[in-house]
Amino acid sequence: MITLSVNGKQHQFDDDGDMPLLWALRDILKYTGTKYGCGKGLCGACTVHLDGQPIRSCVTPVSAVGQQNITTVEGLSAQGEHVVQQAWQRLNVPQCGYCQSGQIMSAVALLARNAQPSDQDIEQAMSGNICRCGTYQRIKAAIHHAAD
Ligand code: FES
Repeated sequence: MITLSVNGKQHQFDDDGDMPLLWALRDILKYTGTKYGCGKGLCGACTVHLDGQPIRSCVTPVSAVGQQNITTVEGLSAQGEHVVQQAWQRLNVPQCGYCQSGQIMSAVALLARNAQPSDQDIEQAMSGNICRCGTYQRIKAAIHHAAD
């Protein structure tokens, strides 16, 4: 039996522990805001937080999570939308939108450790999140907007 704490709620399900966290979140627990891109830890679409740190859920087995708190894009804010989600909307960041929940999770983690990131800080922190539509300039602008 696996127990996971997701967005403040406890969940239990049967598994031997090898299942990638992304599979558990999407297929079992129905937190479908987290996306499958590459399945190899290379694109960032599956980014969630473990105790506030961004991780790639596609390459994290559920057995490695333990008691850590998982936050998905659905759980970023208890009241409405997180300031980063508001900035994303205000600046119309998404194009197709597929990668954006992962982008937002990485952006939230960046701003939590660096409240006023430079362009270079943003480029470095976000370099593992790939966007095939090329929305990088809008992502950067939205992170600055959220930081103001
Ligand atoms: Fe996990 Fe691409 S789906 S990094």
